[in-house]
Amino acid sequence: MTEWIATCRRVREEIGQEARYRHSIGVARTAERLAMAHGAKAVSARTAGVLHDLARLWSKERLLDEARRRGIALDAFDVAHPVVIHAPLSAALAAERFGVRDAEVLDAIRKHTLGAAGMSRLDEVLFLADALEPGRRYDGRAAMLDLALQDLRGGMRAVLKSTLRHHADRNLTISPRTLACARAYGVAIPKELLHA
Ligand SMILES: [Fe+2]
Ligand SMILES: [Fe+2]
Repeated sequence: MTEWIATCRRVREEIGQEARYRHSIGVARTAERLAMAHGAKAVSARTAGVLHDLARLWSKERLLDEARRRGIALDAFDVAHPVVIHAPLSAALAAERFGVRDAEVLDAIRKHTLGAAGMSRLDEVLFLADALEPGRRYDGRAAMLDLALQDLRGGMRAVLKSTLRHHADRNLTISPRTLACARAYGVAIPKELLHA
């Protein structure tokens, strides 16, 4: 427990912004609940949760520079929307600065923003916790969290559906990785998103 508190303190310093720190704690707690409900490792879920957004507040320039410096592969979507690079970079920081060696935890952090065609149970837990932690305010959040606590796959489908709708309604480009993730869960892709 003391180690956990020490980790939280270091995360707070590293992130340097109260709102983003509170979100990280909210994700850690929600990930822990989801893991316990679905037989995933609660400690791994909590660790992935608290560390998932370490690079979230970095500038676009810094995200691109630090990714290139580490040889992180970027696709055209990443280069056009550098904010998403905070996911692989937060995984890199979890390893470099917090000594995380557990590949499952690092993978979950890497996939938390865009999802992927292949998601482990821990990947799903973190992805859902990030979207559904109580600090997030949008219609339907609480109901989707209840669903995710009952049914992990159902929760994934609901969150992916709402993400696709959000992008389609606003004419936003969507990452090919999120599309592949949605397809893997059998979620129908709105036709507006298929021209990309
Ligand atoms: Fe994030
Ligand atoms: Fe997040």
